[in-house]
Amino acid sequence: MIGLTVLVLLIPSTYCKEYVFPDNFKFGVATAAYQVEGAWNTSGKGENIWDYMTHTNPSSILDRSNGDIACDTYNKIKADVQLLKNLGVDFYRFSISWSRILPSGKTDYINPDGIRYYNELIDELLANDIKPLVTMHHFDQPQPLEQEGGFLNLKLADYFEDYADVLYKNFGDRVKDWTTFNEPTLVCFLGYSGEFLAPMITRKDGGYLCGRTLLIGHAKAYHLYNKRYKNDQGGRVGIVHDIFWFEPRTNKIGDIKAAEAAKEFNFGWFAKPIFTQEGDYPQIMKESIARSSKLEGLSKSRLPQLTQEEIELIKGSADFLGVNHYTTFYCSPIEDDTIERGLFYLPDMDANCIVDDKAESSATPWLKVIPSGFRKSLNWIKEQYNNPEVIILENGFSDAGNLLNDCPRVNYYNRYLTEMLKAIYEDDCNVSGYAAWSFMDNFEWRSGYTQKFGLYSVDFNDPSRPRTPKMSAFVFKNIIRERKINWSYTPDGFTKCEWPKSKDEL
Ligand SMILES: *[C@@H]1O[C@H](CO)[C@@H](O)[C@H](O)[C@H]1NC(C)=O
Ligand SMILES: *[C@@H]1O[C@H](CO)[C@@H](O)[C@H](O)[C@H]1NC(C)=O
Ligand SMILES: *[C@@H]1O[C@H](CO)[C@@H](O)[C@H](O)[C@H]1NC(C)=O
Repeated sequence: MIGLTVLVLLIPSTYCKEYVFPDNFKFGVATAAYQVEGAWNTSGKGENIWDYMTHTNPSSILDRSNGDIACDTYNKIKADVQLLKNLGVDFYRFSISWSRILPSGKTDYINPDGIRYYNELIDELLANDIKPLVTMHHFDQPQPLEQEGGFLNLKLADYFEDYADVLYKNFGDRVKDWTTFNEPTLVCFLGYSGEFLAPMITRKDGGYLCGRTLLIGHAKAYHLYNKRYKNDQGGRVGIVHDIFWFEPRTNKIGDIKAAEAAKEFNFGWFAKPIFTQEGDYPQIMKESIARSSKLEGLSKSRLPQLTQEEIELIKGSADFLGVNHYTTFYCSPIEDDTIERGLFYLPDMDANCIVDDKAESSATPWLKVIPSGFRKSLNWIKEQYNNPEVIILENGFSDAGNLLNDCPRVNYYNRYLTEMLKAIYEDDCNVSGYAAWSFMDNFEWRSGYTQKFGLYSVDFNDPSRPRTPKMSAFVFKNIIRERKINWSYTPDGFTKCEWPKSKDEL
C-alpha cells in the first residue's frame, strides 16, 4: 500500500487516465463450463439443468440453440491455452461442470473422464504460467438433483459440499483460487422465482429458499477447505457476486430509498451474511419480505430466517470477494405507476429499476454503458464490507455479430477500467485483479448465440469452431503488457476507432 500512496501523491487526479496498474495486479479472462465446453454427453458426463431445458424446451432459448457443442473447448485445450498465453493473462477463470465430475450430482460415482479433462486443462495452464481460478458452480447443477427440488432443497448444500470435497481432493494440489457459486442472486431469483434462467421455476418463496441453500452450501465448502485442505494446499476460497449499480431515478427521497433497497436485494442478500461482523440478511430485506408476506395473509415471512448457528457458519466464510459488474439501473418505488416495470424488478423489493434509454447500448437489453457505476459499486463494497479484497471476475460488453473491429467493446473496456483505476488510486478500494468477460463468444444462456461478449470471435457455423481475435483482444493484450490504458493504440490491421465525445468526460 505504501507504493500506491506514493503514486497517488505524484499523479494529480486530473491525469487519472495515466494511472498504471499496480505491479501485483492480476489480469485474466473468464468463461463458464456450459457456455463453452460442449461435449454435453461425452465420456460419462451427466445431464445438467441446461442440457435438460434446452433439449426439452428449445423455445426457451431465443435462437432455439443449446450448448451441446458450444465453443467445443472440451476438445481444444492446447490451442485455447495458447490463445490465453498470447493474451498474456496471469489467470484463467473457468468453471467446472458438476455433471462432468459427478453425473448424478452425488459422489456415488466419480467420472474418470471428468477428472482427466480438468487435470489436462489445469496442467496445460500451469505449464504456460497461467493460474487457474476455478468456479465450482456457474448456473449448471446436475438435472438429477433438480428432481429432488434443486436448490429449493436444503440437502443440496450437503451435496455441494461433497462435490467441493472431490474438487479439492483431485485438483487442490494445483488450483489455489477457488470460488463456490457464481451470481447467487441470479441463480435464485431468476431460476427459482422467475423465468429468466433454468430451471425457470416461478415460486414466490423459491428465490429465498434457494438463497439459504446456496449460502449454507457455500459456507460448508469454505469450512471444509479450511479444516481439511488449507494447511497442505495453501489456497483460498471465495464467492462470486453480481453487483449492478442502482441510482435513484430522481433525488426524491422515495427514489433514493428504492435504490438502496435494490442494492441490498441484489448484492447485500449474499454479501452481508458473509462479509460483515454482524452476519445475517440485510434488515431491509427482512422487513420488506415480512411486510409483503403479512399483507398476503401468510402466517410467516417468505424469507426463511437463518438460525443463529447458520449465521455463525456463514459469517466470514470467504477469503476474497469475486465481483461481476456490467451496468447501472435507475430506481423508483413500485407504487410510482407512471413508470413501466423495468428490467430489474424483484418481488417484495419496493423498487422498480429501469435502464437509461439514452445511454449507449449493447446487444443485451439491460446492458447500457455507464462506467461511473463501476467505481460507485466498488466504493459501496468498500464502505459496506470493510474494504475486503475484491477480484473482478466478469466485466464486458456484447454486440450482435462478428464485428472484428469492435470499437464499442474497446470503448467499454477502456472506460470501465479507467473507473476501476480511479477506485483503486483515488478511493483506496482493495481490487487485486480483473477478468474480462469473455475469453471468446459463447452460449449466452437464454439469448443463445445472439449476444457476443468475446475478445475472440468464434464461427459457430464451422464444425471446427475457429477462433479469430477481435481488435479488443489486441487492446486487452496491450493493456496487460503496458499496464495502462492507451486510447490511441490501434493494433496492426485494424481501423482506428472514432471515440464518442463522452471520452472527454474522462
Ligand atoms: C450425444 O448427443 C448427440 C446430440 O447432441 C447425439 O447425436 C449423440 O447420439 C449423443 N451421444 C451419446 C453417446 O448419447
Ligand atoms: C486488502 O485485502 C487484503 C486481504 O484481505 C488485506 O490484507 C489488506 O489489508 C487489504 N487492504 C486494504 C487497503 O484494506
Ligand atoms: C499509445 O499507442 C500509440 C500507438 O501504438 C503509441 O504510439 C504511443 O506511444 C502509446 N502511448 C503510450 C503513452 O504508451
